[in-house]
Amino acid sequence: MKVVVLGSTGHIGSFLVPQLVRAGYQVVAVSRGQRRPYAADKAWDEVEQVSLDRVKDAQFTAKVAALHGDVVVDLINFNVAETRKMITTLSQTSVQQYLYCSSIWAHGRATTLPVQPNAFKEPLDAYGRDKYESEKLLKQAYLASGFPATVIMPGQISGPGWAIISPYGNTDTTVFQKIANGERIFLPNFGMETLHHVHAADVAQLFVRAIQHRASALGQSFHAVAGESITLYGYAQAMYHDFQQAPQIDFLPWPDWQQMIGDAAATESTYYHLARSGQYSIENGRRLLGYAPQYSVLETIRSAVDSYRQRGVITVPKGN
Ligand SMILES: NC(=O)c1ccc[n+]([C@@H]2O[C@H](COP(=O)([O-])OP(=O)(O)OC[C@H]3O[C@@H](n4cnc5c(N)ncnc54)[C@H](OP(=O)(O)O)[C@@H]3O)[C@@H](O)[C@H]2O)c1
Repeated sequence: MKVVVLGSTGHIGSFLVPQLVRAGYQVVAVSRGQRRPYAADKAWDEVEQVSLDRVKDAQFTAKVAALHGDVVVDLINFNVAETRKMITTLSQTSVQQYLYCSSIWAHGRATTLPVQPNAFKEPLDAYGRDKYESEKLLKQAYLASGFPATVIMPGQISGPGWAIISPYGNTDTTVFQKIANGERIFLPNFGMETLHHVHAADVAQLFVRAIQHRASALGQSFHAVAGESITLYGYAQAMYHDFQQAPQIDFLPWPDWQQMIGDAAATESTYYHLARSGQYSIENGRRLLGYAPQYSVLETIRSAVDSYRQRGVITVPKGN
């Protein structure tokens, strides 16, 4: 069975492509060919790599259809017009499944917890609104004509080699350095808002399982998150522990915290991460697909922070 992966060498693709090869699929990896996967893997030797540019090539969708995938995994779709094109074009092929990568950002503020993946959503920003519009379009197409759509909604995709969301709720790494130095930090509000790191390997696992359990996956949305979420407080406390420092965690009301950070882009990023606090259910993934996250949130964070240390992003004071 042939699986075409669009956007194949990024965070998800670096893990997904080797997992698909090992699961016995013939894989066609589509990207512009500008970057290498995050980790070397012999599985890539068995992959057909195709160079296409979704933004610059008006024939992108037709060219994807011409690859004759039984399955198309779309990791780089940020535009509902692209989703419409995919539905129209792939409907004329023998494609058996189209997996659309959405985001937990298709959700807005949580009401009851855990948040359910197929629930009504009230996205907070243009990115989330677009993802939700695509989800709705795909579900309508599934119900109306059996278009074989599956939606996967990752949390904060994390792993070794790139920047992850910190206890400040953004990708600024200075808070890790403060913790490593044993300095006091201030968290917004009561430190009780939550983050949802998921290891890219687990996001990949969910995609693979959704392909393996196609019949149960069609017409469904699934959260690709760990089994739990973490509070900013719990996150910061664990980091002090890992850097062998005594926790020095204080709190500031949101306006004062924004002033302390003094960077509008950083605090906006924090705002949108914290506004998606809560917990995201993986119950339908477990039940229908056998999804079993390999990494807890803290294990995921630790793999990324180890990589920060190895790459010199964080320097550890002598003796720690
Ligand atoms: N990052 C997160 O925490 C997060 C959270 C939730 C959901 N998501 C969703 O995850 C998806 C992104 O996955 P990712 O994080 O694995 O992506 P990524 O790390 O940004 O990688 C993007 C991949 O797409 C390729 N690419 C970029 N522009 C392209 C173009 N114009 N035409 C063809 N290929 C292109 C890149 O390779 P080249 O540069 O070589 O082309 C690379 O292989 C998105 O749908 C996003 O909404 C992300």
